[in-house]
Amino acid sequence: MLRDPVYFDAVPLALVSLVLLLLTACGGGHYPQSVFHAEADFSRELDGLFRNIFAWAVGVFVVVEALLLVAIARFRARPGGPEPKPVHGHTALEIGWTLAPALILVFIAVPTMRTIFDTAGHAPEGALRVEVIGHQWWWEYRYPTLDISTANELHIPAGMPIQVEMTSADVIHSFWIPRLAGKRDLIQGRTNRIAFRTDSTGEYWGQCAEFCGASHANMRLRVIAQSDSVFQRWVDRQRAAPVTPAKGSVEETGQQIFRRSACIGCHTITGIANAKVGPDLSHVGGRGTIAGALFPNTTESLHRWISNAPSLKPGALMPPQSLQGADLDAVVAYLQSLK
Ligand code: CUA
Repeated sequence: MLRDPVYFDAVPLALVSLVLLLLTACGGGHYPQSVFHAEADFSRELDGLFRNIFAWAVGVFVVVEALLLVAIARFRARPGGPEPKPVHGHTALEIGWTLAPALILVFIAVPTMRTIFDTAGHAPEGALRVEVIGHQWWWEYRYPTLDISTANELHIPAGMPIQVEMTSADVIHSFWIPRLAGKRDLIQGRTNRIAFRTDSTGEYWGQCAEFCGASHANMRLRVIAQSDSVFQRWVDRQRAAPVTPAKGSVEETGQQIFRRSACIGCHTITGIANAKVGPDLSHVGGRGTIAGALFPNTTESLHRWISNAPSLKPGALMPPQSLQGADLDAVVAYLQSLK
């Protein structure tokens, strides 16, 4: 049979290209949801465990492949060579290949168990308590000791342990901020806990990590870790009463329309409406994102969201609103004023 020289050149070339392509995936260090850039005690512990197990796996791979190559090179059939000698049983070899994997499993199991207990969710004394409630498809955050309720954006002080206590208002969700902590399930009628502490201020993105319906993939979350003084200013703002619009302003018109609209059937604005179906809007204007941290909190997003939320987020429980023109503008202006 004739050999096709093109075929023999193409195979190594294709392999090299494939490896290069795969390696490009390792290049970036700036993925906002990369577990390889841990910034909290919880995530660092998971990262360490992963690297430990990965090192063992690489070791096993190298030894097994090396033995395989040696066997292929030394013991392959050669023309005119002798028949191989049949072998039955090799006590030393069999004890060896039973003990070695058992030992490796012990070296993997011990740090794994330790990590499971270390990340079981018990924060040290003096931790800040945050209750997280999963909803289809947004996150509710309550700070019971600070008397604050907010949504989608979790503010935490850097350098302080955070005790997260979570549950769900409907189906099972999962709380996951890859660079900080998680995953852990939120289950209705039960409280699961996570404790973590980050020393770096900054913004961290997360994601619901348990399939929870049509907009599971649109259930994002944002964590903002702040220095003590900045966090305290945020707390003070959240605890203050919502802004009262100036007499005769467009915001005041917006507030009046809001009071008469269907909005009050689902949302809270302290002193104006008191329903708990959707996010608390008392300080919605101060948030960077809306709708499960999915869209930037801009005039345009608010317009589109209020007009037809399900078109932006499949299955969203907020029905399209009939507000239009100047009325819609006024409501948006009012919401934006609620810093
Ligand atoms: Cu909530 Cu997936």
